[in-house]
This record gives sequence, structure tokens and C-alpha cells, in this order.
Amino acid sequence: MSDTRVALVTGASRGIGRAIATRLASDREARHVVLCARSESPLNDLKSQIEDGGGQATVRACDISDREAVAQMVESVASDLGRLDILVNNAGITRDNLLMRMSDEEWDDVLRVNLTSVFAACRAAARPMMRQRFGRIVNIASTSGLVGNSGQANYAAAKSALSGFSRTIARELGSKGVTCNVVAPGFIQTDMTKDLPENIVEQVKGAIAVKRLGAPEDIAAAVAYATSDDAGFLTGQVITVDGGMTMA
Ligand code: NAI
Repeated sequence: MSDTRVALVTGASRGIGRAIATRLASDREARHVVLCARSESPLNDLKSQIEDGGGQATVRACDISDREAVAQMVESVASDLGRLDILVNNAGITRDNLLMRMSDEEWDDVLRVNLTSVFAACRAAARPMMRQRFGRIVNIASTSGLVGNSGQANYAAAKSALSGFSRTIARELGSKGVTCNVVAPGFIQTDMTKDLPENIVEQVKGAIAVKRLGAPEDIAAAVAYATSDDAGFLTGQVITVDGGMTMA
């Protein structure tokens, strides 16, 4: 079995997940990164980029809206690579609508991808991590789940649920060397936010203490710490990375 820690990142094809995978595979963290998203081709590009930089990466295509597929994917990573040290549940979707117009399908799709898949992935990862007596789980939530956001009842419900879920995992697995934290990003420049009108973006910037939108790398830096060997005393926390937008 290789000594290199294995890190599985979902939603690694673009945006925040891509930045997390790139950071974890870099010289600074030196993880063998397993790149997961729905389709293989963008992941193969990222794998080549990581390998060109001297890092290690493996590709796993998986539609995480299918919870059995998620479990199988996690189990196959642990058995094929001989270990699973880090799990970053980053993949997520939005299906925004005001409450009165929100369809059952919009509700179900968001809960399935943003919450149920995280349950399935953590349940499958728990066994290999407990066996190793080491694990780092980070679930990517959102400030929408902390303070709410009009049009996002489904998304805020799913992201908020990740806090209670992660704190429970932290309590259940803490004595086995497995930590579980949430990273809650604020407004980050990715495909998910690129269609926001300019006046909304300016309004948002005004509410951010550091007066800029976040970059995916800002989130990757927090995940790098929370998944490091040094972070063994950090668990059950919601780490809000939002430039001071929602600080109490
Ligand atoms: P994005 O839309 O740019 O990328 C989402 C990733 O998830 C893609 O790789 C996509 O392939 C993957 N994905 C979506 N559905 C999937 C499925 N069924 N199976 C497998 N993979 C799937 O999103 P972005 O902005 O990078 O967001 C990443 C995470 O950060 C999400 O959980 C999102 O909710 C959260 N977040 C983003 C914020 C932002 O401002 N961009 C703010 C707060 C949270």
C-alpha cells in the first residue's frame, strides 16, 4: 500500500471542486487525488494537468444523484487504491424558485444531489477510514444554508442539513481518528454564479467585508487545512469562507 494519502473530490470537473483537487494534488499537499464528476472528459484534462505538474490523479465518472452508484464508487476507490483518507463532498446543484412556485421535482433533485449523495458517500467512506484510524471528511455547504436566500428554499434546506449531519458524523467517528467538518462558501466566482446580473454582483460586493467575490482557490485553501494531518483537533465545525459577508 502506498504511503500517499488518497483524497476523493466530487464535482472536480470545474469551479470550486477543480480548485480543491488541484490544490490537494499540488506539491504543498501531495495527495493522490481521485477526480469525480458526471462525465470523464473534463476530468481526463484535469488529470493530465495534475500529472504534468508531477502530481497523482485517478478519474471516476459517477452520477451522484444515484446513491447506489455513489456507494459503489467510494468502495471501489478504497479497494483499488488500497486506502481512502480524505473525502470532499463538493458536487452540488441549484434549482432556484420562489417557495410558492417550487416544484416537487426541483425540491427532490436538489435534496438528492446536495444531501442524500453526501450521506451515501460518508457511509461508504466510514468503514475504510475507521479501519485506517484516520479520515478527513469535508462537506461543502453554503452561506445560503446559514442565513437563507430568497429563491433557494431547497438549496438552503440541503446545505443547512449538512451542518447537523456533519456534527453527528464528527461525534460518531471522532474516537476513530476521523474528523468531519463543513466549509460554507459565500459568493464565489464560478459557473454557478456567472449569470448573476451586474447590479446584484455590485450589491453583494458591498456586503462583503473584503470587497471582492471569492475565488475557488479561497475555498481550496480552507479545505487543504481541514483535510491536513495537522487538523486532527478540528471537527464538527462550520468554517464560513465568505470574505466576512455573514459574520455575526
Ligand atoms: P459548479 O456548478 O461550477 O460545479 C459543480 C460540480 O458538481 C461540477 O463538477 C459538476 O459536474 C458536479 N455535479 C453536479 N451534479 C452532479 C451529479 N449529479 N453527479 C456528479 N457530479 C455532479 O459549482 P461550484 O460553484 O463550483 O460549486 C461547488 C460547490 O460549492 C457546490 O456544492 C455549491 O453548492 C457550493 N457553493 C458554491 C458557491 C458559489 O458561489 N459558487 C457558494 C456556496 C456554495
